Amino acid sequence: MATSTVLTASETHAMKRAPVVEGVLPAIHERWSARSFDGREVSSSVLTKVFEAARWAASSNNEQPWRWVVGRRGDGTWEKIYETLVGFNKTWAHRAPVLMVGAAAMRFSKNGAENRFALYDLGAASSYLTLEAAALGLTTHQMGGFNQEAVRQALGIPAEYAVGAVIALGYQGEPAVLGDVTMIERETTARTRKPLGEIVFSEWGMPADL
Ligand SMILES: Cc1cc2nc3c(=O)[nH]c(=O)nc-3n(C[C@H](O)[C@H](O)[C@H](O)COP(=O)(O)O)c2cc1C
Repeated sequence: MATSTVLTASETHAMKRAPVVEGVLPAIHERWSARSFDGREVSSSVLTKVFEAARWAASSNNEQPWRWVVGRRGDGTWEKIYETLVGFNKTWAHRAPVLMVGAAAMRFSKNGAENRFALYDLGAASSYLTLEAAALGLTTHQMGGFNQEAVRQALGIPAEYAVGAVIALGYQGEPAVLGDVTMIERETTARTRKPLGEIVFSEWGMPADL
């Protein structure tokens, strides 16, 4: 058995954290996308804080185009979202106590013009959500692996809203709950990121001299 398969939940979390860089928000250091959830439910007051953070994101024209449909394990909404996930995501997301889907209003409410920033804004708000969750000791896992039309139908999301991502939310558990060796290895592998020089430019393609 590979060494990585025996990591505990706290060892995994310690390894997955982003390196501490002075001045970077602690929640950014803490957030990563776990697939191993423990059995704990998420209280309504904690869930409220997560959405409270999300709603203070910036948006084009302050349209706040974001909407989320939230399911708690045991309710019909959770079941409906879960059923739309692709097979791989179903193998782990069944342990998530909260499943939600984000949607964005694609037209400005004031004049009906197309809002080409709506999904950008939903993504920004979703990032606030994930960071607040991390600050509260929760883990989130965003997913594109689901059937968009099925979730739209199942939840009655109107045509004028674009479906964004599904987000699983809960408390991180032991990697061992994933059962499968490949899944456990994936869960206990270090995260990687491109260096700043590859993503921040002074001129296109030229690393910025920060
Ligand atoms: C829009 C989006 C879609 C994603 N879709 C899936 C998915 O369907 N299944 C999955 O296991 N992870 C999914 N992920 C998680 C990414 O793989 C993960 O965020 C990435 O590897 C970086 O890891 P980190 O979030 O721990 O930093 C998705 C993430 C985002 C933002």
